[in-house]
Amino acid sequence: MRVLITGGAGFIGKHLAHLLADDHELIALDNLLPQVHADPEVSVRDFPGTVLRGDVADPDAWKQAPSCDVVVHLAAETGTAQSMYEQDRYRRVNVEGTRLAGVWAKAAGASLISMSSRAVYGEGRYECSQHGVGFGGACCDDAVPAASRETDPFRPLSVYGETKAEAETLLSREVASSIPLAIVRPQNVVGPGQDLHNPYTGVLAAFLARLKEGKPITVYGDGSQTRDFVHVRDVAKLLAWLALKHRSVGNPLVLNSGTGERTTLTALAHLAAAGSPRGTTEIEHLPIHRAGDIEHALADLSRLREVGAPMPELSTAEAVKDFIQQSWAKSGAPSETWDQALEELSQKGMASS
Ligand code: UD1
Repeated sequence: MRVLITGGAGFIGKHLAHLLADDHELIALDNLLPQVHADPEVSVRDFPGTVLRGDVADPDAWKQAPSCDVVVHLAAETGTAQSMYEQDRYRRVNVEGTRLAGVWAKAAGASLISMSSRAVYGEGRYECSQHGVGFGGACCDDAVPAASRETDPFRPLSVYGETKAEAETLLSREVASSIPLAIVRPQNVVGPGQDLHNPYTGVLAAFLARLKEGKPITVYGDGSQTRDFVHVRDVAKLLAWLALKHRSVGNPLVLNSGTGERTTLTALAHLAAAGSPRGTTEIEHLPIHRAGDIEHALADLSRLREVGAPMPELSTAEAVKDFIQQSWAKSGAPSETWDQALEELSQKGMASS
């Protein structure tokens, strides 16, 4: 099969490509954005196939792509906080880029696997002994956060989440009746190959930078916020399975991707330190809330199980350890780069104490 992977030279794309490379012809459509690709030549060399340079939101970029059997659409702007002040860029890439992926896949008669995000749920599902199930936040002190299900309503809190929700709606409306369509909503994806230079990427890269410099890990808030950290290889396995197996046309197949395991930011800091050669670290709590940040996130994996999709194999502890150990010797931006990104956010009034 010939598989076109948008954003194929990126973090998840490369893991997916290595799973598919032996038996399939791979084409990446990737803009090799400097914020993500510190060395674009290395990114191209590492991709086991052909890399076409192009912006998914530009219709001309799609003209260079040869006809394919499957499109895996991963290209996106992914920084939750950054999306709050770079709205146009996020909308252009995440909504228009996804629309064009749908148009192209439909014209080619290819199946489409499109990457969304758990950010579409915002604060997600809560369960309360007084008021039952609610969405988008706690109704009262009795409410406790619960795992989000694919049938839960969209309640995005960030522009990033809004763009992902819009993109899903658009695909379901425009292409689901014509080609096989699967939509994946990953939780926080971690693992080797994760960007270590981009201060707009995930929390674990920030923790690594501070650990390497022997500085305390900075946790925004009291550290009780929770996330579901899933290993990139497990996400890639799910995408590969969908790329090879998903062929039904009609309702889009929407699937969460996570571990189903809740981890507080404080626990994450300890796991990161434990996985590092330093063993322990100090945690510094900064009284900060970034615009668009949610409190709790967790995936419900029942549907994955029901459809026979590959279940995650690595626990969060294993995923974090693998990331820290494999990234420790790699070069990355100094921790002050993250401080500057936070400062930039504060100046724009989007990080409050
Ligand atoms: C992340 C992804 C997003 C994905 C989503 C799914 C990034 C930038 N965003 O969003 O693409 O769809 O998961 O859940 O990877 N924090 C600290 N200290 C730091 C940095 C961050 O405490 O030095 C906190 C943040 O305030 C936040 C939490 O860590 O509460 C997680 O932040 P982050 O990794 O940036 O990502 P998400 O917003 O969860």
